[in-house]
Amino acid sequence: MSERNRSEEYWLAKARAGRIPVHVGIIMDGNGRWALNRGLKRYEGHRAGVQTIRRCIPALLNLGIRHCTLFVFSTENWKRPREEVQFLFSLIVDYCREHKAELIENGVQVIPIGRWRELPGSAVSAIESVVRDTRSCSRLKLYLAINYGGRQEILDAAVKLAKQVVSGEVINFEGITQEDFADYLYTKGVPDPDLIIRTSGEQRLSNFLLWQGAYAELVFTDVLWPDFGPADLYKAVVEYSSRSRRFGGITGEKG
Ligand code: IPE
Ligand code: IPE
Ligand code: MG
Repeated sequence: MSERNRSEEYWLAKARAGRIPVHVGIIMDGNGRWALNRGLKRYEGHRAGVQTIRRCIPALLNLGIRHCTLFVFSTENWKRPREEVQFLFSLIVDYCREHKAELIENGVQVIPIGRWRELPGSAVSAIESVVRDTRSCSRLKLYLAINYGGRQEILDAAVKLAKQVVSGEVINFEGITQEDFADYLYTKGVPDPDLIIRTSGEQRLSNFLLWQGAYAELVFTDVLWPDFGPADLYKAVVEYSSRSRRFGGITGEKG
């Protein structure tokens, strides 16, 4: 057994011995830097980043994690050069087509969130097709945040609610609760993330799951996304397990 595998198993066992998050969000960052560090073009980093996603799915399954949200493309990522944006969309198309069988085999249901319908038609239909074909998979729900922004999501929810108030569909709007409002978000019915991981050393949310992440534990790692692997995921879960979650109270659940 290689050293890498040994340490992977060590971290897996340690993670399993602790508390497992129900929902993990991942801000997959550092593709560009990974490529530039190697004298490659940025897009090579994005290509390598797709392989990381493929590696991490079995790791999520090993831990019995049922919900995972990946930040694929933010509403602010349109600011990047047109060629890079186009390349990212083509990667989404390829991923949905080429790895669909693998997703089904692993029992992964793909659910896009965000304004993903604003992408070019080829990407929209590739996404629709993987959603349709993974519909009955039930081991892991994989939410792909595509053209996603937390502020836009809250704004979209507020507009949807306002329309229902105007049409008379919602009458008692002054009594609306947080739970009621959450039903207007893209993540209706999805448990809030317990853990949000961000790679590449950046320590910010960049508009990711702003409402849902209110009480998420944040774990930051310097590892660049293309270098991230199962052992890094297990380590993040171990770190999560060591945190005392108090939700504003004084007694925390731990370990
Ligand atoms: C993350 O990697 C991928 C996306 C945001 C789509 P980056 O492309 O942001 O990589 P860095 O941060 O420039 O290294
Ligand atoms: C966040 O990464 C978006 C995704 C991972 C899709 P960015 O690289 O776009 O974030 P900033 O610009 O560094 O905040
Ligand atoms: Mg980045």
